[in-house]
Amino acid sequence: MGKVYYISKNVGLGLLVLALSALVTIVALSIAYDKERSKNRSRPEEQAAVNSDTPDPTPVASKDPWDQYRLPSALVPTTYNVTLWPRLKPDANGHYIFSGLSDVVFTCHQATDLVLIHANKLNFTTFNGHHALLSDLSGARMPTIRKSWLVTETEYLALELSGSLTEGVSYILHTEFQGELSDTLEGFYRSEYLEDGVKKVVATSQMQPTFARKAFPCFDEPAMKAVFNVTVIHDRDKVALSNARELVTKFEPTAKMSTYLLAFIVSDFSYIESTQQNGVQVRVWARRKAIEAGHGDYALNITGKILQFYERYYDTPYPLPKTDQVALPDFQAGAMENWGLVTYRETALLHDPNKSSAGNKQRVASVIAHELAHMWFGNLVTMRWWNDLWLNEGFASYVEYLGADCAEPQWNIKDQIVLDDVQQVFSLDALASSHPLSRREDEVNTPAQISGIFNTISYSKGAAVLRMLSKFLGERVFAKGLSVTFILLLLCFSQAAEDTPGLGIPRTIHDIMNRWTLQMGFPVVTINTKTGLVTQQHFLVDPESVVDRPSQFNYTWFVPIKWMKTGVEQRQYWLLHKTVSGVNWVLANTNVSGYYRVNYDMDNWNRLISALEANHLTIPIINRAQIIDDAFSLTRAKMVDVTLAFRTTKYLSKETQYIPWKAALGNLYFYYLMFERTEVYGPLQAYTRKLIQPLFEYFTKMTHNWTTVPEAITDQYNQMNAIGMSCAVGMPACRDLIKSWFKRWMDHPEDNLRIHPNLRNAVYCIAVELGGADEWDFVWRMFKNATLASEASRLRSALACTKVPWLLNRYLDYTLDPTKIRKQDALSTITSVAHNVVGMPLAWNFVRAQWKQLYQEYGKGSFAFPGLISGITTRFSTEFELQELQRFKEDNQEVGFGSATQALEQAMERTSAQIKWVTENKDRVLDWLSGESL
Ligand SMILES: *[C@@H]1O[C@H](CO)[C@@H](O)[C@H](O)[C@H]1NC(C)=O
Ligand SMILES: *[C@@H]1O[C@H](CO)[C@@H](O)[C@H](O)[C@H]1NC(C)=O
Ligand SMILES: *[C@@H]1O[C@H](CO)[C@@H](O)[C@H](O)[C@H]1NC(C)=O
Ligand SMILES: *[C@@H]1O[C@H](CO)[C@@H](O)[C@H](O)[C@H]1NC(C)=O
Ligand SMILES: *[C@@H]1O[C@H](CO)[C@@H](O)[C@H](O)[C@H]1NC(C)=O
Ligand SMILES: *[C@@H]1O[C@H](CO)[C@@H](O)[C@H](O)[C@H]1NC(C)=O
Ligand SMILES: [Zn+2]
Repeated sequence: MGKVYYISKNVGLGLLVLALSALVTIVALSIAYDKERSKNRSRPEEQAAVNSDTPDPTPVASKDPWDQYRLPSALVPTTYNVTLWPRLKPDANGHYIFSGLSDVVFTCHQATDLVLIHANKLNFTTFNGHHALLSDLSGARMPTIRKSWLVTETEYLALELSGSLTEGVSYILHTEFQGELSDTLEGFYRSEYLEDGVKKVVATSQMQPTFARKAFPCFDEPAMKAVFNVTVIHDRDKVALSNARELVTKFEPTAKMSTYLLAFIVSDFSYIESTQQNGVQVRVWARRKAIEAGHGDYALNITGKILQFYERYYDTPYPLPKTDQVALPDFQAGAMENWGLVTYRETALLHDPNKSSAGNKQRVASVIAHELAHMWFGNLVTMRWWNDLWLNEGFASYVEYLGADCAEPQWNIKDQIVLDDVQQVFSLDALASSHPLSRREDEVNTPAQISGIFNTISYSKGAAVLRMLSKFLGERVFAKGLSVTFILLLLCFSQAAEDTPGLGIPRTIHDIMNRWTLQMGFPVVTINTKTGLVTQQHFLVDPESVVDRPSQFNYTWFVPIKWMKTGVEQRQYWLLHKTVSGVNWVLANTNVSGYYRVNYDMDNWNRLISALEANHLTIPIINRAQIIDDAFSLTRAKMVDVTLAFRTTKYLSKETQYIPWKAALGNLYFYYLMFERTEVYGPLQAYTRKLIQPLFEYFTKMTHNWTTVPEAITDQYNQMNAIGMSCAVGMPACRDLIKSWFKRWMDHPEDNLRIHPNLRNAVYCIAVELGGADEWDFVWRMFKNATLASEASRLRSALACTKVPWLLNRYLDYTLDPTKIRKQDALSTITSVAHNVVGMPLAWNFVRAQWKQLYQEYGKGSFAFPGLISGITTRFSTEFELQELQRFKEDNQEVGFGSATQALEQAMERTSAQIKWVTENKDRVLDWLSGESL
């Protein structure tokens, strides 16, 4: 049983004071955390726990500075001249290269005879046998370079000098170098595409987090901000782009900025543009064909709107004179917020009104809103080191909903955060191997550790926790906190601490937020309507798992309780202590504005279920999703019986809304994963069919026999659920419909307008699943010919839906051949094969056999790499599979797991929990479903 906080009065009074410190919490968190961190450091047991779960080659202090991953603080750069010349044609040996020159001016803050600057995989021209020339800016006497060398492990160019540099003096380091314009999607790399049968090469870049050092020698840490004067050399018929406005090929000096936000592109792209009222130039760039076809129009339409929204939201003008949005055929992440030159996957920027689905369109709006949010938060205000990444990404992941909502107010997009972030991250954060949002600075050192924190916790929990704060304070107050200047609020902050009355109530926002950011996990709040007692406890999906990461707060939280009683909102409290008994239902966490789960006494659960069945409209839409999602999770944690969770789904035969359906299908999917290979499968299919049938009929009617498109975007989404699930449970009406659509398309490949883009994901997958090699080969051909990336992506996923093993194995082999499957898509293709029950063992064999190669290609940098392990192992629920996983870990100790190290630990923990869960629940699930599906 957890701890109970009592409060003496409503916190409404304290709200104003709390609100004033909002910005301090957000912007000054890094500062505050330094204090917390130093506290942590003095607790050896905590350090030990942390080190044991992140096996870490962090050098100890006695090592030489060039063996440490962090730069010494003696030298600080102020400005660079960088000239880069990418060759878009291979040299005589078939290699693509770039060459470059760099002059970096840095100031000596502490006398030293060692210059360390990041450089990775660059070949240097030597001057008198050394990798660089050093001169000084003021004419003072200069020490000479005695020795220079490259350090591969820590990625440095090191220069040892004959004497000390002088404190306060600035120096210039000149280098000339050559690098490979490789296809690794990191640093300065190349992307290729065909246009009118001609291969075109784009030179482009991805610097975040640690790849700027692959493009030119630089002090490659986020706090080492500088001004960059960039020159790019290119053929006359190409266009060069960088962060600043171009002056032919020479760019204006950038704003003072971090290296990870730099970008350089040389391409044959064209663009469309508009100019904002405040003079900011907005351009959208893509392949010529895509621009001609109007695929950039939607992005251009909304970029300006979103930019203006953020200018109001942050109360600060957009800090640069221009913003370019560029769609790249090959791109590792979804998009990258390079300052003034944002890069995207084509699927995240391009839109075709005839071929893109509603989901594709929403993705474009959300991704643009996410990246533009970073222009202020992240780029203008930057975290000091990567351990605070969550602030950057969590914030952007939250406000992207606000930005997209402003561009498309009729979509009601803000509620979807509950499905797409909150409920997603709940499942990860309920593991004992989770980690706090805020990491200690010394926990994050190597490039692999840095890549590893670009994870769901940083993005989605960050977003969920900031949303909770904002919901509690009120959106307006929260935003206001952001717009007031930093110093002013620092003053308010200390005042707030003095003014707020105590008594177990959190004194400041900072107190509250520490509980959510410095300890991992989240609470389940239990409301006992009989005794009136409200308690909290750390929610663990496996109640027997051992939490060996200590928390200074003993895993208790300040929980904002918003709740309602028989449909009537009650006042919000910090973990209330109040009598909540009664004969009517009580529901807490209204609209899921808090980051926690809720459990009740059985009588109240029964009352809630009755309320759903009698008239589900009395309960807000988001909470209908919450009741289902919480109940299923509590089941997994053994806090309620498994049949209770299923009972919360019975009312779905009357539900037509997207959000509850999505939550339910997500949870039922877990039962499919666990039982698809067992005798539970039949009754589970029968039960699901009973629930989904009325929804299928509802949409058949609404769309006049599938000839029109529902008006509301959420209805469009739910229509996809209806089709996808009805066919998956084998409903003949659904399967016949799809087969007829697909056959028509195969007969007339030039015309598939009959299959609405919204439904294509489902239709393609079902058609491939029900078909054979002919259907597969047809979809493969359409995939290779697709001119719109989102269409290509649907076809690519559908190819993983076949149940024919040799087709699946051949498809897996294609992922190692970049001419068949682009490298950016290789990992997600393997994962999609693993989602298929027939493909799962094939994908697992494939990954084990190819681990070394996959690791070398993706293990250090790719953000998608951890997802490969978690994707393949989602179904694992037998002892044998656990042993295989352990053996995989042992067998590959030498190769390593890179950014997937933690994902592997989580996979083992999840598998153990699932083994236990299946053993304990299978019979009861089978009994209940057999009774219900009669
Ligand atoms: C880059 O340009 C700015 C503005 O012209 C100048 O102040 C700075 O010194 C230049 N940087 C270098 C390395 O010369
Ligand atoms: C940087 O480039 C500018 C303009 O080309 C030049 O005036 C300046 O001297 C260069 N700075 C250094 C440190 O070489
Ligand atoms: C760098 O040098 C190595 C060793 O000489 C060579 O194999 C490699 O091709 C060079 N890379 C570039 C981009 O010049
Ligand atoms: C862009 O906006 C214009 C004017 O509001 C509108 O006519 C056009 O349909 C929009 N284009 C897209 C692709 O949304
Ligand atoms: C955590 O528990 C310890 C030991 O029971 C207690 O001394 C400490 O005050 C608790 N800390 C918090 C924040 O509740
Ligand atoms: C839909 O199809 C059914 C059966 O084919 C038919 O009875 C019904 O009239 C059709 N409804 C509409 C609106 O076309
Ligand atoms: Zn981001």
